[in-house]
This record gives sequence, structure tokens and C-alpha cells, in this order.
Amino acid sequence: MIASLGIDYRLCATASAGRGGLDDAELARWLEKSGRATERLVRTFAEGEAGFLGVPDDTAGVAAVVAVAEELRAGTDDVLVLGIGGSSLGARTVVEALDSASNGPRLHFPDNVDPHRLARLLARCAPDRTAVLVVSKSGETLETSAHMLVVLDWLRRGLGAEKVGSRVVAVTDPQRGHLRRLAEERGFRVLPIPPSVGGRYSVLTAAGTLPAALFGVDVTQMIRGAAEARDRCLRPVADANPAALLAALHVGHMEERGHTTHVLMPYSDALRTFGAWWVQLWGESLGKRLDRTGRMVERGPTPIAAIGSTDQHALGQLFAEGPRDKLITFVRLESPSYEDLVVPEADPPYAHLAGRSLHAVLNVEQEATALSLAADERPSLTVSLPRLDAHGLGGLLLTYEVATALAGDLLGVDPFDQPGVERGKRIAIGMLGTSTAESEAARDRLARAPGTHRYAE
Ligand code: PA5
Repeated sequence: MIASLGIDYRLCATASAGRGGLDDAELARWLEKSGRATERLVRTFAEGEAGFLGVPDDTAGVAAVVAVAEELRAGTDDVLVLGIGGSSLGARTVVEALDSASNGPRLHFPDNVDPHRLARLLARCAPDRTAVLVVSKSGETLETSAHMLVVLDWLRRGLGAEKVGSRVVAVTDPQRGHLRRLAEERGFRVLPIPPSVGGRYSVLTAAGTLPAALFGVDVTQMIRGAAEARDRCLRPVADANPAALLAALHVGHMEERGHTTHVLMPYSDALRTFGAWWVQLWGESLGKRLDRTGRMVERGPTPIAAIGSTDQHALGQLFAEGPRDKLITFVRLESPSYEDLVVPEADPPYAHLAGRSLHAVLNVEQEATALSLAADERPSLTVSLPRLDAHGLGGLLLTYEVATALAGDLLGVDPFDQPGVERGKRIAIGMLGTSTAESEAARDRLARAPGTHRYAE
């Protein structure tokens, strides 16, 4: 049995965080609600929805990913992963967290449609040594389509039209979307994102595992870690279920204490993008205008990612003395992700650092920050990982996916849709192509409003 993540929530309780904490009765109530939400999620999954829960069982899918990765790795120095949002952040999280696993090509995530990075990247890459992964669940996202068309043209000019297909893999819905059709026409390899898995829940599908496998990550171990976490996270008893506990604490603090800003603060540079991944997952899943019954609620927590200890010297002041609207989750590693460094013998005034490893200093910083917040009745919890490896990371990602689905249930909203994001996508397409009533109405708003001024040189 491999040790998995731990959650220390003592500093969320009234006993330690005073008025910022939950009392025993409140905690028990939210744990019970979260247990019931877990039972509902199990039923939803059995009915064929919440497909992310089934991804860790798809061993044939993992084998297909590994086979494509092995085929591509031999002739590849650089990999361009073209995708945005959930189709980029998951893979970036894995590649950044497991940097030490790399024995393969360099991976690049241009992500934003800002031309600066892509232009510089293309100038440095050789078309015949570059693999291009186009990742889009819908197959129709504007930024990814624009990037893809630019890069396909770059490949065509470098290699000739007939060789382009051999350098491209499309990762998309197995049945629908423009990307699917283009891939079939042009002979790209295609790997699926299952229809019942939404973009931000897709990190353990080929959207995340193909880039990871190309990079050299043991994706079989990662999926195994996710499968074990999934089994834990579907236990109906909330205190034996880390995802149910996370959901209960966050929604409980939100509803009982008005802690509507949720901060995730890993004390590890390797988990920096994990914070960005979680911000997207939490924010897009829980920020909703309507609840499940169609009633207007306009609610959702505001997620913020910070990094320790760096942000102690930036956002730390706001967390320590600003509005009492926050619940902070620290994430710490019990052992260093790479080689540790030790401070040599030192005389006063540095004697307290002598012989300390930098990893130990980092973890003391984390603990001191949590205790200092609690001293002013500001709550926090700490998620700890024994080590950062493929197995542990798979478990962490799956745990947070389940916690998000459960938090959505507790808040009464649908954690799997994103109507606000879709509206923005439709308006942008209408503004670039054939306008629609929606894109016209959006433009009219600007035309009606005063408030622009151009300043003279
Ligand atoms: O979670 C989501 O659904 C979104 O953030 C998508 O991942 C993002 O908009 C990209 O969409 P797609 O994968 O369809 O290109």
C-alpha cells in the first residue's frame, strides 16, 4: 500500500481558529451533507454521467496513448501542445510537477493566442523534428483553431503538404467537432477525450497523458494513483473520503462564515501550475448564475492560487490582515521532489539555519504561516503529499476533481457545465465571422455607451 495524501484540518476548527473556524456541530453537519452528495455522485456515475470517474479504468486508452507517444518520441525534439483552458492546464501541471521524469523531447504550451510566444517558438523549432498535439474537447475553440491553422501552415512550408499528417495528433471528442473531421481528412492520428468528460476534468485522458508520456512520465502509475484515489473518494463516509472532506470544509466555511475566497497555496515550485489548474476547475465549475432548479443564484467562490513561500512576501499581507473572507489550503510535500540542499555550518546570526535542509526550511515557513493566521482567527487547512511522483500526482488530481463535483452538489449548481464561457466563445466567433443576434447585441452595448477617450501624443 503506497502512502497517499493527508489532510490536516485542525486550524479550520473553532478550537484553534476561534470565530474563523467551524464548531463541531457545524462540521458534523457539513460532513454528513458531503457524504450524501458522494452517494448522489456514485449514482450519477452509474447512470453514465460524470465520466471523469471512469477514466482511471481505461487501461486500453492508456496503452494507446503510450503506443502513440513511443512512436513519436524517436524523431522528435520539440512538442507543441496546442490547447487552452482544460485542454492545456492539466498537461502543463503534470509536466511541471514531474519535471525530473523528463527523458524525452521539450514540451511547449503556447496556450494563449497572443502571437509573441508562438512566433518565437516556431523560429526555434525544426518542422521535421517537431510533433504537434492539437487538444480540444469540442474541436472548435477559437484560440486552438487559430494556433492550429498557423502551425499546420508552418509544417506545410517546412515539410511539404504530404508529410504534415505524420507530425500531428488530434486529441478530441471521438464523434463530434471540426477538429475530428479535419483529422480524418488530413490523416492525423486521433486520440479520444470521452464525450462524458468535460475539458477541465480531462487531465487523466489523452489530453493530459499524451503530453505527459511524451515527456517521459510513467502514465500507467499516474492512472493507478488516480484509480486508488477514486475508490477512496467515492466512500460515502466523509471522514474516510478526502474529497468529501475538502468539499465539506470549503462549502461549510462559505455558508457558515462567509469565506467565499478560496486560496490554494502549494509550498513547492513544481506545483505552481497545479494552482492554476485548480483555479480553473474550481472557478469554472462552481461560479454559476443559475442553480440546478433554474433559480437565479449568481454565486460561487473566488479561487486564488498563490505559491509558498514566495507569496508570503506578496499576498501574505492581504491574507493576514485583509478581509476575513478566506479559507486557505496549503499544500506541502513531506519529502523534497528533487535533490535537497543543506545549509552549511554557520555562526550567529545564521546559526538557526546551520545544518537545515532547504526543504525543511520551506515546510517550517508553511507551518509558521498557518499558525500565524490561526493566531488571528484566520482558518486554513494543509494537504500533504508524502512525495511528488506520478502515482501521488494522479491521486491528487483525481481527489480535487471529485471534491469539485461534490462542492457543486453542496452549492446546488451544475459543476460540469460552463454556459458563461460558451457565451464568450460564441460572441467572439460571431465577431470574426458571420455575425449573430448575440454578437450584434454585444457590439450594440458598446455603441450605446459613453466612456472612451483617446489621449493626444
Ligand atoms: O473546462 C472547459 O470546458 C473549458 O475550460 C475548456 O477546457 C476550454 O474552453 C477549451 O475547450 P476545448 O477543449 O473544447 O477546446
